[in-house]
Amino acid sequence: MNILVIGAGYVGLTMAVCFSELGHSVICIDKQKNKINTLLKGKLTTFEKNLDKLLIKNLKSKRLKFDISMKNVANADVVMISVGTPFDDSLNRYDQNAIYCVAKNITKFINKYTIIVIKSTVEVGTCDRVEQIIKEANPKADFDVVSIPEFLREGSAVYDFFNPDRIIMGTESQHAKDVIKKLYKPLKKKKFVFTSRCSSELIKCASNSFLATKIHFINEMADFCEKVGGNVYDVAHGMGLDKRIGVEFLKTGPGYGGGCLPKDTKALASLGKRVGANFNLIEAVICGNENRIKSFATKTLSFVENIKNAKIAFLGLAFKSGTDDCRFSPAIDIVLHLINKGTKVCVYDPAATKNARSVLKTKVSYAKNEYEAAKDADIMVFATEWKQFRSLDWAKLSKIVNSKIIFDMRNIVDRQEALKYGFECYKTGC
Ligand code: UDX
Repeated sequence: MNILVIGAGYVGLTMAVCFSELGHSVICIDKQKNKINTLLKGKLTTFEKNLDKLLIKNLKSKRLKFDISMKNVANADVVMISVGTPFDDSLNRYDQNAIYCVAKNITKFINKYTIIVIKSTVEVGTCDRVEQIIKEANPKADFDVVSIPEFLREGSAVYDFFNPDRIIMGTESQHAKDVIKKLYKPLKKKKFVFTSRCSSELIKCASNSFLATKIHFINEMADFCEKVGGNVYDVAHGMGLDKRIGVEFLKTGPGYGGGCLPKDTKALASLGKRVGANFNLIEAVICGNENRIKSFATKTLSFVENIKNAKIAFLGLAFKSGTDDCRFSPAIDIVLHLINKGTKVCVYDPAATKNARSVLKTKVSYAKNEYEAAKDADIMVFATEWKQFRSLDWAKLSKIVNSKIIFDMRNIVDRQEALKYGFECYKTGC
């Protein structure tokens, strides 16, 4: 099949590469010429495990192409819109202008039956609006607008594409269903869920809001464990083995972040307010998550309050491991709190330093590795759960730090091992 993906962001690019790997002929367009030129050279514009090899392989096979022109709509059986829908704080909703603009621009190129798939995370009712825009601009256009929300996680997007828990298809059109089923046919394991467009649009937002709630629950449980005794890791494990609860998303930490959970929770809560169906639970989760980030900064400072000109070695800046993404990263917010209080901070992240630098600028110093960051430090803070932080050389670290204090926000440090070298290790919820 001929697929056109509009938007070479993290979701669009992953989809374009993976659909071409499934054997389809894919063109991915983006208005940023620089990005397209980089991709044409076989270089990734985002950090994503295993995507680089597939990009090169499919470029070579010519199943995957990159371009900037909307004219490519004319040859496509399926057009996937995957442009950004950032949260607009002044309007308290997603900014969907990019989607509506694409809808207007593609209209004149639709010359045969075409399926328009909305992949971006959108407010409920968006597919209806896109359909209306296209119909108004070109009443003769033969098309269906379908909602297929994307559930890819950064850091495991390729795996998630080939192993989806479910493929949600929001459409009433049997023809569209048949074409989309063909599109996903080469995927070995798949479970389709057919529903209305509105329900499909809601499933994405509801799923991310539920995940955020799960994380916030375990974070509050961690605080509770610290007060009453108990180990949140064991509590989460014991709870998660109940299939109705599930083990995933029960890891405590400094709060959830990233490009999706913060914005989707906010979008759901604000839509609830607008339609008179308040989401009190989600509002509490949003507020609790924001407070958690502040309280982790305060806690960090409390460990060094008696040390004059304390230096903090801050390890991990990405919103989670396996990505270079710092959008709404709790780690970054905590660092900002620390520097606002006049504390000296030296940061290190295996992948996200470049992105972090655009926010933190010259307000912190940047280390090349964990050991450089820890030199003369009065506390080592672990804020992102990078695998390499689990196997540090504590003997070496014990010789270079100023004070042997660890604040392990993600519970990744082997406390017994660190203890052997005289470190005091403060964990979260245990
Ligand atoms: C999320 C959804 O999981 C995905 O389905 C959707 O398509 C996009 O949004 P992503 O933003 O990549 O994916 O990150 P995710 O793995 O969901 O983690 C979000 C945040 O929650 C991170 O800050 C992470 O550190 C935190 N988290 C996650 C926890 O604190 N504990 C957990 O147990 C899981």
